[in-house]
Amino acid sequence: LRQSFEQELQRAGSSDAVEKLRVAYLGKKGSVTELLKGLKEVGAEQKKELGQHINALKRGVEERLSERIEEIRVAEEQREIEAAEQYDVTLPVAGDPGSYHPITIVQRQLEEVFTSMGFIVEDFKEIVTDYECFEAVNIPKDHPARDMQDTYYLENGQLLKTHTSAAQNFILRKYGAPVRAIFPGRCFRNEATDASHENTFFQMEGIMVDKNISISNLIYFMKTMLSEVFERDVKVRLRPGFFPFVEPGFELDISCLICGGEGCSTCHHSGWVELCPCGMIHPNVLKLGGVDPEEYTGFAFGLGLTRLVMMKYGVKDIRDLNSGNLKALSQFRHE
Ligand code: PHE
Repeated sequence: LRQSFEQELQRAGSSDAVEKLRVAYLGKKGSVTELLKGLKEVGAEQKKELGQHINALKRGVEERLSERIEEIRVAEEQREIEAAEQYDVTLPVAGDPGSYHPITIVQRQLEEVFTSMGFIVEDFKEIVTDYECFEAVNIPKDHPARDMQDTYYLENGQLLKTHTSAAQNFILRKYGAPVRAIFPGRCFRNEATDASHENTFFQMEGIMVDKNISISNLIYFMKTMLSEVFERDVKVRLRPGFFPFVEPGFELDISCLICGGEGCSTCHHSGWVELCPCGMIHPNVLKLGGVDPEEYTGFAFGLGLTRLVMMKYGVKDIRDLNSGNLKALSQFRHE
């Protein structure tokens, strides 16, 4: 019996075939099971010895079955690996080749524009400390941005960054002055969601610190960058704005992309659209970053990347961008 089992086992080439063997030998009517049943008919003396034999046979069969299963599994895996190795990555793709997310497209475009102007691109984490997000950028303890309503706090006391400014201190410390850096990132705020608000959105922050940096540098860089992104000559203007980490602080407006400044419903007939908060880096922020504000000055801007994408592509509902809806997102192809 043992021999015929062994022969059949070698012939069984798939896990299904092995399973059939298991039933044939160990199942309710299997040959080994029948042998055990037959024990009833022999005398007590013989029963003991024979019983031990048959049980040993049974264990042996069980063991060989699982060994064979494992062999087959390994062989199948090997076949799969070999098949994968024959996969030709240069073949043209059948069907939809996929596309970049519009946020990615614009982010890369901005990275290109800024790196060509000597900026480095810095990646930063999404989970930050209270110090990084608030304290280090001169946001006092009672500032509304820290409110439980707005900030997602984690159980360990850290939080999801509410703005890319959370990286300012790290970058100032890492590179010292002078420095030109942009740092795109995903930000989180506990907001009610509607067509123009999401709890998750992207910003692209930038800082430039050097001797004698002034508001004119800020205006020049913003105008150059935005003209590039919108592929036309955009006008910019500054209005006063308040942020604890800049002094003076501004809201930067651009000439309306729809009417070119004539006035239309998109710009509420003003000819201008609010785009990007910015300002001259507050001396406290420089100091906390280890940079001497007597020697160096700098500007910072916090571009709403998600908002910029919506304007560039005319996306009406911010939720489309986070939806993962490939059909909606695939309209934005990168040349
Ligand atoms: N961090 C600010 C915000 O998210 C934007 C900002 C960045 C303003 C840099 C000024 C300078 O609202």
